[in-house]
Amino acid sequence: MIDVEQVRRDTPGCEGPVHLLACGSSLMPRCVVDAVVDHTRLEARIGGYEAEARQAAPLEGVYASVARHIGARPREIALMENATVAWRHAFYALPLRRGARVLTCEAEYAANYVAFLQRAKRDGLVVEVIPSDAAGALDLGELERRMGADVGLIAITWIPTNGGLVNPAAEVGRIARAHGTPYLLDACQAVGQMRIDVAELGCDFLSATGRKYLRGPRGTGFLYVAERWLEDLEPAMIDHFGAPWVARDRYALRDDARRFETWENSYALRAGLGAAVDYAERIGIDAIAERVRRLAGLARAQVAETRGIEVRDLGHERCGIVGVSVDHPDPRALVARMAEAGFVIGASSPSSTRLDAERRDLPVLLRIAPHYFNTEEEVERAVAHLGALV
Ligand SMILES: Cc1ncc(COP(=O)(O)O)c(C=O)c1O
Repeated sequence: MIDVEQVRRDTPGCEGPVHLLACGSSLMPRCVVDAVVDHTRLEARIGGYEAEARQAAPLEGVYASVARHIGARPREIALMENATVAWRHAFYALPLRRGARVLTCEAEYAANYVAFLQRAKRDGLVVEVIPSDAAGALDLGELERRMGADVGLIAITWIPTNGGLVNPAAEVGRIARAHGTPYLLDACQAVGQMRIDVAELGCDFLSATGRKYLRGPRGTGFLYVAERWLEDLEPAMIDHFGAPWVARDRYALRDDARRFETWENSYALRAGLGAAVDYAERIGIDAIAERVRRLAGLARAQVAETRGIEVRDLGHERCGIVGVSVDHPDPRALVARMAEAGFVIGASSPSSTRLDAERRDLPVLLRIAPHYFNTEEEVERAVAHLGALV
C-alpha cells in the first residue's frame, strides 16, 4: 500500500493546486528536483564537462535504472529528450521497402501518424489502420487477418493521449513475433503508470517520456531497442558520438542503443529522469498502477452521475486517463475556469488522435488524470466543481 501522506510530503506541488494531469506533465517529487538542481549547481561550480566526469557513475546508472524498470538491458536503452524523438529514431531508421504496409491503430498519436504520412509520401509505404473491436480496442482478429509478407511494421499506441483505453500491447507483440514483423510500441502514457516488461510485450522498439506518469523533468524520454536490432540498424541521422569517426572515410556505429544519441546532452535532466525512475521503483509500480486505476475509477463513477459531463473512454481495460466530453461550447474555457478554482486538468483536441476523433465525432475532450499522490477527496472535489461549471 502506498503511504499517500508520505508521497504528498515528498511532492512540493501537493501544496499547490490539485494536480490531475499526469497524462500531460505530472508533479515531480522533491528528489527529482534535487537531482536536477544539484547537477546544475555542480556544473555552475566546476564546469559542465567536469560535472559530467565527476558524476559519471550515477549518470551511467540512469541507463541501468531505466532498463531495470522495463525489463531490458542497459545497452538496449538510449536516453532522449522526449518520447517523440525516441519514436522517430526507431521509425525512420527502419529500412522499409516501397509498398510495405505499416499497420497501426485507431488510437494512434498525431506525431506518429504524420511521420507515417511522410514516409508514405517519400518512401511509398502504405499505412493501414486496424479497426477497433466493439469495445474500442485494437481488434486482434483483424490484425491477425491482415498480417502478411508485405507487412513491414506494426506500430501502435498502447494508451492514447485522449482517454482510458489500454490497447492489448502484449497480444499484438505475440502476433508480431509469430510473423517475424518488427513492432514499435508507443508507451508514452504507460511508463510510470503500469508495469512494463519488454519481453512480455514482445516489442522491438518502445518509446517513452519522462514527464508524465514517471514524474520526471520535462525534456526527458527514452528509446528501447531490442538487442536483435543492435547488430546493424543504421540511425537515419548520426553524429560522432553514436558513430565514432574511426578513419578518414569511415565511421563505426556504437554497438548499443546509444548509437541513436548525440554527443551533447542535458546531464542535469538525465539525473532527474534517473531519480524519477528510482522513486517509482521505491513506491512500487504495481501499487502505483492499482491506485491510479482506483482513483480514475472513482472519477468515472462520479462523472457518470453528473449531468453535462460524459466519460468517453474506450476499451476492455481502462487506465488512469479519464477522457470526458462536456455540454459546453468552449471546453478549453472550462480548463481555465478549473485552474482559477485550483484544479489542474487538461484538454485533448481531435487532431491529437484524428482517426479516433473522426470515427466517434469527438469534440475537444477534457482529461482528468489522477496520479497516486492525489487523494480521493481531491478527485471528488474536482469532478464536483467541473459539474458545477457545465
Ligand atoms: C500517446 C502519446 N504518444 C506520444 C506522445 C509524445 O510524447 P512527447 O511529448 O514526450 O514527445 C504523447 C504526448 O502526449 C502521447 O500522449
